[in-house]
Amino acid sequence: MAISRGLENVFVDETAICYIDGAQGRLLYCGYDIVDLAARSTFEETAFILWHRRLPKKAELEELRRQLAENRPIPPEILDLIKSMPRTAHPMDVLRTAVSALASYDPELNQNTPDANLRKAIRLTAKFPTITAAYHRTRQGLAVVKPDPKRGLGEDFLRMLLGRDPDDLMARIMDVCLILHAEHGMNASTFGGVVTASTLSDLYSAVVAAIGTLKGPLHGGANEEVMKMLLEVKTAENADEYVVSGLQAKRKLSGFGHRVYKSYDPRATILKDYAQRLSEQKGDLTLFETAEAVEKVMVREVGPKGIYPNVDFFSGIVYHLMGIPHDLFTPIFAVSRITGWTAHVLEYWEDNRIMRPLDLYNGPRSAEYTPIEKR
Ligand code: CMC
Repeated sequence: MAISRGLENVFVDETAICYIDGAQGRLLYCGYDIVDLAARSTFEETAFILWHRRLPKKAELEELRRQLAENRPIPPEILDLIKSMPRTAHPMDVLRTAVSALASYDPELNQNTPDANLRKAIRLTAKFPTITAAYHRTRQGLAVVKPDPKRGLGEDFLRMLLGRDPDDLMARIMDVCLILHAEHGMNASTFGGVVTASTLSDLYSAVVAAIGTLKGPLHGGANEEVMKMLLEVKTAENADEYVVSGLQAKRKLSGFGHRVYKSYDPRATILKDYAQRLSEQKGDLTLFETAEAVEKVMVREVGPKGIYPNVDFFSGIVYHLMGIPHDLFTPIFAVSRITGWTAHVLEYWEDNRIMRPLDLYNGPRSAEYTPIEKR
């Protein structure tokens, strides 16, 4: 009887969506290397690849861009709901609540055909940026910025969030971040979504489960923790002592380690470059140099165990340098990963089987029931 705690090394299905070579640090979406996609693609094209498992023709990409732009507005009732949430709420909780409520406004909620499900995936992907930005503006007491269908999803997301036009570098970096976070195999949140979907529940329920799963600091919440850590470390000189004493105290440092990668996470390498460029543009390298120093000590101390920076180590820094509040880091992850979640659910539904694992009982087998007054 083999028990695999944390489902380590368990394959739950076959997939044509994502290939991760953890030893070589390679990540492919439907065969396309994320290094190429980050250099040459857009988030919209990446979404097409994940949903259709091939590159789009020009007209197909235009059509998807149009649909993603057209569906960006949210119903006024959902906006009211977002505005009614406490200003202290975590944006992930607001996103989860808004998506759950949105289900009742989708005319195809219970139509479980592949075409209807793809249309729902597009509608959800289109609305995630609008929900996230609307809550952020509201909690600051600022006017909500309406979507602009002429802009790409990443650029428009930044504009709705910050209330101003992002420059070209920032818009491109956001697009690259969305490309890099879009998909990552059977990770915890995707699995959470697929488990829900496997009961033939609806796509919104699957996505709500995935959002709740992504929130945890061992998963999508790690980049928020990374920034907390780097602000505690303050400068490169403090890195050695901070890391070594943290490891001695058996702490797991956020932004390092991965169940699949035992070498450099290729996404971290790409984002590190952007973190450096943004720091240079700002003329302040303190944060970047602190991060590099932490990385160096970690690689020296635990690199031999296969622990290296993961995507969250540098994504948090990039967002911070773009002026984005730390509690929005995980929602940005969700704005992107909604494409991977839905791609996996759609693929799983092509040949659905309910997920129903076992757990090995180790409790008593003949406990005697005593009446309450005699206990
Ligand atoms: N710092 C220090 N030591 C670590 C770390 C870390 N971040 N990660 C793993 N280790 C050590 C761990 O102590 C253990 O050592 P030993 O064998 O001596 O007991 C060994 O490496 C294996 O660790 P594990 O916890 O069994 O590994 P796992 O596959 O269960 O966990 C992980 C993977 C990502 C949850 C874990 O590495 C971790 O907690 N990292 C920090 C949180 C983080 O950055 N999460 C984001 C992951 S990437 C994006 C995403 O998936 O959302």
